[in-house]
Amino acid sequence: MTKTADNSPMNTNVPTSLFAQRRARMAAQLGAKGIAIVPTAPERARNRDSDFLYRHDSYFYYLTGFSEPNAWLVVTGDGASTLFCQPKDTEREIWDGLRLGPEAAPGALGVQSALPVGELDAQMPRLLENRDAAWFPFATHSGLEQRVAGWLEKVRARVRYGALCPETQRDLCSVLDEMRLVKDPHEQDIMRRAGAISARAHARAMKASYRMLREGKDMREYHLDAELLHEFRLGGSQYPAYTSIVAAGANACVLHYRADAAPVRPGELVLIDAGCELDGYASDITRTFPADGKFSAAQRALYDIVLASQEAAVAATKPGARFTDPHEAAVKVLAQGMLDVGLLDRNKVGTLDDVIEKRSYFQFYMHRTGHWIGLDVHDAGSYVEPGEVGTVSERKDPLSGEVIKDRPSRILRPGMALTIEPGIYVRPAEGVPERFHHIGIRIEDDAIVTPDGCELVTRGVPVKADEIEALMRG
Ligand code: GLY
Ligand code: MN
Ligand code: MN
Repeated sequence: MTKTADNSPMNTNVPTSLFAQRRARMAAQLGAKGIAIVPTAPERARNRDSDFLYRHDSYFYYLTGFSEPNAWLVVTGDGASTLFCQPKDTEREIWDGLRLGPEAAPGALGVQSALPVGELDAQMPRLLENRDAAWFPFATHSGLEQRVAGWLEKVRARVRYGALCPETQRDLCSVLDEMRLVKDPHEQDIMRRAGAISARAHARAMKASYRMLREGKDMREYHLDAELLHEFRLGGSQYPAYTSIVAAGANACVLHYRADAAPVRPGELVLIDAGCELDGYASDITRTFPADGKFSAAQRALYDIVLASQEAAVAATKPGARFTDPHEAAVKVLAQGMLDVGLLDRNKVGTLDDVIEKRSYFQFYMHRTGHWIGLDVHDAGSYVEPGEVGTVSERKDPLSGEVIKDRPSRILRPGMALTIEPGIYVRPAEGVPERFHHIGIRIEDDAIVTPDGCELVTRGVPVKADEIEALMRG
């Protein structure tokens, strides 16, 4: 079991064999004389002597299930693994909590050997000697390249005694990203549970909004943020997967808005983009609802367009489809809707095909429809189909005039997980009907690709306008 200590931030009962299998799959791709080096994340100072809440590195956790700081994993091409971790230390453990320690690590984590992390610099030249390739994650850990270079220098100093020094350095992300892209049943199970907790949190915030306004309270965005956090922790989540967005009224048109102190007023929409992290896995939900439980006609008109576009994107999320297919399906519905309600003026922008070709919809929909999700909310994994990276087409962006190089996008396979999150954001501008001004709507769910379509793991909170109203007033 990977439960590392009584005070471990993780509360999982994950068999160590799962992590051992991942290490073995990685090792098989290193070459017989390759070696992989994976550090976890550093602790980071917040202010004076207080640190930010610690969060392990996702690659490291994927291979170990170990969430203590100050740890490194080293795996050789023959599959042998060494963990460097914090030594037992009674005084530090009194202050910071129990440590697993190198003696217990092989039994707890299934690694072959474990050493105190203080020995890393002394041991690494020995481990790198007579290897042909050193693999580590490129451009993810500040100072890692220099640290590896220092170890290699020490190996090179021994070549006159017959030592061989690795001749190549390779990016371990290319191996791990491909592995992480397809979620195994254990990962899918955690993602379902994370999605269920986040869905309950959104439902709770919706109900609280209606209740507080009915009671005549001075409601602020942070009150709704508090409801989310309450439900996340109640469900066993360790922390939010990213900074929650709780945006009332016009704030919804600021894409990276945070939950702040703005008042939430009757008649306004509230956009909440928030998801919990559970046992290392992110969830990512957006719902947009009327603060007082009743959509206005203008809000409802745009809401139903966004919902229809999400439905089209969901239908396009299936094995064999390209990653970009849901986006294109959503854009078609959004663009048609913008023409139908007069957000876009046909006399100026032309037909649906013109709107798509010239990207006129970009004024109101300026982001992509999804991203991979998993250990990281914007998860690892290339968006290009590996067998087709050499196929490059060029096109001129109709808005910026920039020449863009396109490669065929990733073909979806069962087990891949992605968000589906179309939206419409209306900033006042000439020719934009006033009744739509300052309306910002996004609807986001998390999908796992199945053999014949996709499973939405975040639908524990309603998404249809009528159902949201009923839930809020219920
Ligand atoms: N909440 C981050 C995103 O939706 O991408
Ligand atoms: Mn998202
Ligand atoms: Mn989101």
